[in-house]
Amino acid sequence: MTTTPTPTVFVTSATGSQGGALCHLLRGMGWSVRATTRDASSPAAKALNDAGVHLTPGSWDDEDALHEGLRGCDKLFLCLLPNLTDFDQAPRRAELITRLAREAGVDHIVASTTLGSFMVEEGHVPPVKIGPFFSAHIQSKKRVEQAAIDGGFQYWTVLRPGFFMANFVEPKIQFGYTETKKGTWTNSMTADSPLGLVDHVDIARFAAAAFQDPGRYHGRTLGVVSEELPVQEAMDQLAESIGDGRSIKAVFMTDEEVEREQAKGSWLFFSSEPCIRYMSNYTDLGELNQFVPELMTFRKFLRREEEAVKETYLS
Ligand SMILES: NC(=O)c1ccc[n+]([C@@H]2O[C@H](COP(=O)([O-])OP(=O)(O)OC[C@H]3O[C@@H](n4cnc5c(N)ncnc54)[C@H](OP(=O)(O)O)[C@@H]3O)[C@@H](O)[C@H]2O)c1
Repeated sequence: MTTTPTPTVFVTSATGSQGGALCHLLRGMGWSVRATTRDASSPAAKALNDAGVHLTPGSWDDEDALHEGLRGCDKLFLCLLPNLTDFDQAPRRAELITRLAREAGVDHIVASTTLGSFMVEEGHVPPVKIGPFFSAHIQSKKRVEQAAIDGGFQYWTVLRPGFFMANFVEPKIQFGYTETKKGTWTNSMTADSPLGLVDHVDIARFAAAAFQDPGRYHGRTLGVVSEELPVQEAMDQLAESIGDGRSIKAVFMTDEEVEREQAKGSWLFFSSEPCIRYMSNYTDLGELNQFVPELMTFRKFLRREEEAVKETYLS
């Protein structure tokens, strides 16, 4: 009797939200997982270690660490952080990691970038003008995607996540969303443009599904969200989950206000980019649910993250 060898996956951003969730999912499936971390003593790294993830100390600029991490791997999850002062950095790292991965024998890649990539697709005319700063950011993401697509892998899939549900709690709330603690969220959406919210665990579920069924996912670029909600509805659910009777009001900027922020080159894209209003043009929840059923709702996410919600808003 022949047995299929257990796959081994190299996960970038393993101590982060989507990478971490993926590591734990894959270990739960009995797969081998390898990764690098710059801090093996962090709580996330310790949890991965306890789950049986093989961790190599090092960063994305450390070829030796990447070589060691990629040893024996046949699949790669590529999720890199943007550098908003050096838009070449992430593509450069993507090219390095994909080349080393191919040399190590990896033949299957899943890359996770951003829903915004759809807005600068070749031949696509964005519904509204995109600011130069946001455009440079998305072009950088597109180059990461291209490194995955052109990397010479037998199978590739690109996941483009929407707005993380986790942005409203620690630690991600620090990246531009702490205003919600004061009872408002000023943003460049409109009252009826749906906010495409995604649970990072769902991103991991899509990645795991693609790794399990390469043929079905190969060559696909998927906009990934878990639920779409009007912003005020999301704020109401957030306020309700805090549970102290407060309300959080969505404040919609005027076009002039948005334009002024855009002109400044703000990295707070949800208060400087009107194209965000059209994010649901690039997602198909019906199709997504066929790929991965029972996607997370914001309400359930807030319940699952109850401790983080309380810590963020009540401590
Ligand atoms: N927030 C949103 O709404 C949203 C929406 C769409 C897309 N995204 C994209 O999602 C990505 C972030 O994913 P995430 O939130 O899951 O990650 P995260 O929680 O921010 O975690 C960051 C990870 O990157 C690793 N890392 C950072 N710098 C590194 C370096 N120089 N070398 C090696 N590893 C490094 C960290 O590892 P160690 O510290 O352990 O080394 C950690 O595992 C970004 O590219 C962002 O653009 C975010």
